[in-house]
Amino acid sequence: MIESSPLDTTRAAYDSVANLYAELFRDSVEGHSLDRALVTAFAEYVRAADVGPVADLGCGPGGVTARLASLGVTAFGVDASPAMIELARQEYPHLRFDEGSMLALDIADGTLGGVLAWYSIIHTPPQDLPVLFEEFARVLAPGGHLLVGFFATDDDAQPSVEPFDHKVSLAYRLPIDHVVDLAAEAGFTEIGRMRREPGEGERFRHGRLLARKPVEP
Ligand SMILES: C[S@@+](CC[C@H](N)C(=O)[O-])C[C@H]1O[C@@H](n2cnc3c(N)ncnc32)[C@H](O)[C@@H]1O
Repeated sequence: MIESSPLDTTRAAYDSVANLYAELFRDSVEGHSLDRALVTAFAEYVRAADVGPVADLGCGPGGVTARLASLGVTAFGVDASPAMIELARQEYPHLRFDEGSMLALDIADGTLGGVLAWYSIIHTPPQDLPVLFEEFARVLAPGGHLLVGFFATDDDAQPSVEPFDHKVSLAYRLPIDHVVDLAAEAGFTEIGRMRREPGEGERFRHGRLLARKPVEP
């Protein structure tokens, strides 16, 4: 029997709910002013550094990719789910969307000015997270920026990653310090982190990290 990988399971799960997901979360940043502000700040950092385009990794239906483009950065999306990529292409035909895995990107070393991973790292098995952050570092040019959004654990002092009953596919809540450490181990310098408490209708605390790949290694 051939066992499916966690990525196969995630891909199939998002394929099966792509239309509904797009209706609910076409631009998942829209609903909260702190998140909009952070994505706007990320775009400003990317524009100021001017070292390449931004890849929205795990872009889903592409709304945040389009938001980045409207903020004046060259942006494209990558997602493992063909159904999500199809929806993104239909909705934003002027933008580029590619099917692919964040764990092994078909992107040359040192060519991006930014990587956005907005709630896409949550489905990566904890043991694969270091590979993910190394991949982010590989594709970014020196001086490039990384913005990660994720569900955070409730207890900052509790260091473990926690699986939870995500409605689409197995997912994990991550201690913010752990995400900061993963980025540091991959060579990133922290610019700032945010802890946002659950808003109306939200179950969990949120974590965000904005970091830079140093110009000098
Ligand atoms: C919760 S959705 C977030 C989508 C979008 N970033 C947003 O904010 O609406 C997670 C997305 O990440 C994608 N994804 C998860 N793991 C991935 C991987 N290893 N490579 C590429 N895409 C992945 C899923 O297919 C899904 O579209």
